[in-house]
Amino acid sequence: MTKKKINVGVVGYGFMGRTHSNAFGKVNQFFKLEHQPVLKAVCGRNAENVAAFAENWGYESSETDWRALVTRADIDLIDIATPNDSHAEIAIAAAAAGKMVMCEKPLAMNPSQAEEMVAAVEKAGVANMVWYNYRRVPAVTLAKQLIDEGKLGRIFHYRAKFLQDWTISKDIPQGGAGLWRLDVNAAGSGVTGDLLAHCIDTALWLNGGISQVTAMTETFIKERTHALTGKVEKVGIDDASAFLARFSNGSLATFEATRYARGHKALYTFEINGEHASIFWDLHDLHRLQYFAHSDEGRLRGWRSLHITDGDHPYMKNWWVPGLQIGYEHTFIHQVADFLGGLSDGKPAGPTFRDGLATDYVTDAVLRSAASGRWENVS
Ligand SMILES: NC(=O)c1ccc[n+]([C@@H]2O[C@H](COP(=O)([O-])OP(=O)(O)OC[C@H]3O[C@@H](n4cnc5c(N)ncnc54)[C@H](O)[C@@H]3O)[C@@H](O)[C@H]2O)c1
Repeated sequence: MTKKKINVGVVGYGFMGRTHSNAFGKVNQFFKLEHQPVLKAVCGRNAENVAAFAENWGYESSETDWRALVTRADIDLIDIATPNDSHAEIAIAAAAAGKMVMCEKPLAMNPSQAEEMVAAVEKAGVANMVWYNYRRVPAVTLAKQLIDEGKLGRIFHYRAKFLQDWTISKDIPQGGAGLWRLDVNAAGSGVTGDLLAHCIDTALWLNGGISQVTAMTETFIKERTHALTGKVEKVGIDDASAFLARFSNGSLATFEATRYARGHKALYTFEINGEHASIFWDLHDLHRLQYFAHSDEGRLRGWRSLHITDGDHPYMKNWWVPGLQIGYEHTFIHQVADFLGGLSDGKPAGPTFRDGLATDYVTDAVLRSAASGRWENVS
């Protein structure tokens, strides 16, 4: 069958530019789809570096100005893999030019910007998606299936953490390549928008809406040299963020993220406790799902460690043979596969921009609560 070509233009060629390029390039080898992404162009500001990236990953061309890329007649889909402060401008211009848009998370710097992005893609009627890739770890997708099937029954508790330790040194500058996450003007917030946003997206997907939060944040290192100005400047991001939440279904939650948990590199975990069963997942062991079922015979009852590698586990029949696991990069391939599948069956795969906006509403309530010291409603 001749596949319908989708010409992709990726903006940004850092960490996410690589995961996305890999996903667009591999998806058709592993998934049977009507559409086929074509690596048409990649955009970055340094002509020599972006040309080298284009050659390495097999792009047909490169650009140094995203404005030129989004208006190119031979581009169907704009993929945004740049720091957070440029998501809105690129996405809105891409939608106005009639392109499909995939955008990295968090969707925007704040909810009002995110609302404009939602309005732009919905007005243009273009397919859109936010790269909250953890939904597509097969073990996390299985957790979603088990919850939707009612295996957990009524849910009482949701507990999520995302722990890192890479900004503890006061000598790390803020701003510039790789360190834009420490600069509030480029990132919008600290770990709240960077790490907790992932935890919140997964939680909204698995357990429904969050109605209220009460939060605390801290900036442990108050001043850092700015890589772009060379001056010591106030740090505007939150280094750590924790909040309590109430879900609309009546369950209670705790969320925590920090870059000051010595010994932890990217420890994203969640545990969900229901009336009949509980689930625990850990990114460091992403191919396993821990499951406890109260219905098991008493003598044998206990936490099971499920190895999510079988053909009847989500996505796994597309990969190797039972028992052989897959990893982080595959979640992006799954996301592209589902996005393209949505184009074929007319059922857009989430998270759409509107779903991304829902996460931005929660992170906004977290930051408002940390400032006010009170419970805050989620918009
Ligand atoms: N889904 C995930 O798990 C995940 C993980 C990491 C980062 N992210 C998100 O992805 C985005 C990018 O993060 P990253 O870690 O890849 O950053 P990075 O610093 O590794 O790469 C950013 C890239 O954007 C380019 N860039 C910056 N401004 C540009 C402009 N105006 N025009 C063209 N190119 C520009 C930079 O040159 C660089 O190539 C952020 O929004 C971040 O929050 C998501």
